[in-house]
Amino acid sequence: MSDLILQTKGLRASYITHLYGIDREVKVVDGVDLAIRKNEFFGIAGESGCGKTTLLKLIAGFCKPPLQVQAGKVEFLGLDKPLSLFDATEEELYKIRWRNISYIMQGSMNVLNPVRKIDKSFIDFAYPHMQELTPAQFRERVVGHLGNLRLSKDVLDSYPHELSGGMRQRVTIGLATLCSPEIIIADEPTTALDVVVQRETLGLMKRIQKELANTIILVTHDLAVHANVSDRIAIMYAGTIVEEGKTVDIFDHPAHPYTQHLIRSLPRLGDKEKKGYLKGAPPNLADPPSGCRFHPRCPLAIDRCRTEVPLPKMASSGTMTACFLAE
Ligand SMILES: Nc1ncnc2c1ncn2[C@@H]1O[C@H](COP(=O)(O)OP(=O)(O)O)[C@@H](O)[C@H]1O
Ligand code: SF4
Ligand SMILES: [Mg+2]
Repeated sequence: MSDLILQTKGLRASYITHLYGIDREVKVVDGVDLAIRKNEFFGIAGESGCGKTTLLKLIAGFCKPPLQVQAGKVEFLGLDKPLSLFDATEEELYKIRWRNISYIMQGSMNVLNPVRKIDKSFIDFAYPHMQELTPAQFRERVVGHLGNLRLSKDVLDSYPHELSGGMRQRVTIGLATLCSPEIIIADEPTTALDVVVQRETLGLMKRIQKELANTIILVTHDLAVHANVSDRIAIMYAGTIVEEGKTVDIFDHPAHPYTQHLIRSLPRLGDKEKKGYLKGAPPNLADPPSGCRFHPRCPLAIDRCRTEVPLPKMASSGTMTACFLAE
């Protein structure tokens, strides 16, 4: 039996807009292959604007205009047979959401309706998947579950704005975990939180992943967070995965120049030296660079990088790396 729970194959997607008679295509996910395992904490990192949120939306099966899939597929492997999310019917997708795959969007307020009390959000999202319970049994289950997340039952009778940011995030985690899904997808779940609450929330997610023995796919631009919780990481740059591997290998021997830059830029205790930031900014994905998308910023670029696209290969460090120099 496969140890995979979800895979993407040759995934390519763009935002396609027609504004003032002008067509614009933003090529935001460009040939992404991921194989995500059962029972792992999988991290996706990369600077803002590199396509992380879009990739997560696709992985969760959300693909609505202006986002369009041009090629490839996403398969959920937790059922009797693989379910291709872009070929699935609305009904099939509805059945697996929250029960098999839950998705914590960027900013917990996006999930929690600001004009509905928290208990209504639980009823809206989770109760349809737990119809074997009576309403009273369902409430009891929710209260017990929230207690596990150190939230009192009073939270259920509150509006989202009456809770602190950390509590709202724990409510969202509660919603996402109530049905014990095989996959929890979380987009920058701790970015808006202060450091102490951030640490608490991450500790909670790690504990939940161990208890449920399920898979968490965590996106954050903050590599220090990945260092603490992720078993494996994929580094994304301008819509492509440039390096993927075990967190320890990525941190010990980053093989891709972009990963090396991200790791060198991490603040270290007692380190007064000014960090050597890369020149320039990530490219405009409406007009991405030819060849290796990183070449305009890469200090090691050679002629070949301007015209040829490097494919992922196993580097000596044990990570899959898309760079000619790591081959
Ligand atoms: N609805 C949209 N329409 C057009 N372009 C979009 C839309 N959403 C995101 N983009 C563009 O896609 C790129 C990647 O965005 P995103 O997936 O949010 O990246 P990240 O999460 O890494 O910051 C950005 O250049 C952004 O401007
Ligand atoms: S392929 Fe070339 S431009 Fe791309 S990261 Fe490697 S050396 Fe740099
Ligand atoms: Mg994002």
